[in-house]
Amino acid sequence: MEFSRRISALRPSAIREILKAPTDPETVSLAAGNPSPEAFPAAEMAVIAAEIFANDAAGALQYGISEGYGPLRERTRERVRVKHGIGRAGDDLIITSGAQQAVELAAKALLNEGDTVICEDPSFIGSLNALRSYGVKLVGVPCGGAGMDLDGLERAFREHPEAKMVYTIPTFQNPTGEVMPLAARKRLLELAAKYDAAVLEDDPYRELRYDGEDVPAIKSMDTEGRVIYAGSFSKIVAPGIRLGFALAPAPLIAKMTAAKQVSDVHSNLFFQILVERYMARHDLDAHIARCRDLYRTRRDVMDAALKRHMPGVRWRVPEGGLFLWIELPGGIDGTDFCRRAKERKVMAVPGSAFLTDEGGFSGAARLNFSLPSPEQIETGVSRLGETYLEMTSP
Ligand SMILES: Cc1ncc(COP(=O)(O)O)c(C=O)c1O
Repeated sequence: MEFSRRISALRPSAIREILKAPTDPETVSLAAGNPSPEAFPAAEMAVIAAEIFANDAAGALQYGISEGYGPLRERTRERVRVKHGIGRAGDDLIITSGAQQAVELAAKALLNEGDTVICEDPSFIGSLNALRSYGVKLVGVPCGGAGMDLDGLERAFREHPEAKMVYTIPTFQNPTGEVMPLAARKRLLELAAKYDAAVLEDDPYRELRYDGEDVPAIKSMDTEGRVIYAGSFSKIVAPGIRLGFALAPAPLIAKMTAAKQVSDVHSNLFFQILVERYMARHDLDAHIARCRDLYRTRRDVMDAALKRHMPGVRWRVPEGGLFLWIELPGGIDGTDFCRRAKERKVMAVPGSAFLTDEGGFSGAARLNFSLPSPEQIETGVSRLGETYLEMTSP
């Protein structure tokens, strides 16, 4: 059977195969991107779910509209407007099956095969693959400690003035955890305007800030309708419900809606109703504050464990998000490191998995601190330390 070019472009990389391979039950995984189940508001959701089944099953189990459940759309729009200053006149909002689908629909609506998209390098695999699946050429710009390096972006635009889009995760970037400062966000918008490119701002971690000051979303500074904002309920409610959203100029949302109609028709209506009622009845901000406390503690446990077990390795303590990015010294290959770490019963994701050039070299690895318990973090990092020692001792 001959597969389409579109899907053939998505090669299961050797790295992902390593991660998938069966693991010992003793293995500690620092490789996931998952929130902690302790952060799911399951008890509150159970009560609302029972009510929906008892009183509103006919509506909740029926087909819905592709743009999403009206009350959830309105509530989400209001929330991002009030909390983050996002959404201008002429924008519209579509509920999607996660931010993943928001990125995919935006790519489908805006990009042709052969178009150029500039993005951070490394960046989120799910989005890179969504872009790859449309035959897009990815031009990576390194992260220099403060998100996408803006001089690098300017160079990329000079070399690729035809670029149609900048895809960015400016807040607690996945995988690096970096935050793009305000001045850089403004400059990014200016450059996008100069080269007439769209900006796809992927922002699922914004509310998971553990310290420091919020930096306004790029979308909040968008006066021209150039920015598509993708948000998610995955990290602040639960990922299994598959709910996110895109906020963008109404004509684009209309095209994304048409694209969604031929994809999954609409996102799960039952959970859309459930989340709207959860937001109406409970204090989502108070819930998020509890998630932040949980994750801040785990981040700090990981930082302390790294200090103890991995001298010589570099990392920045992320101010939010779910990941800590370690850079190994002396040309150590991150893929080799993660392969050996797995033999020592700890899993991390090698930096090369996130590169625009899938065959490229990276001396880094991504560690997740939200899912493992503090004890698992300690055990996992001490095993990473043993792996590192093995690779650095003469
Ligand atoms: C940067 C980024 N964008 C999008 C997603 C997808 O999230 P969702 O569960 O909302 O589809 C993730 C998930 O890890 C992510 O890290």
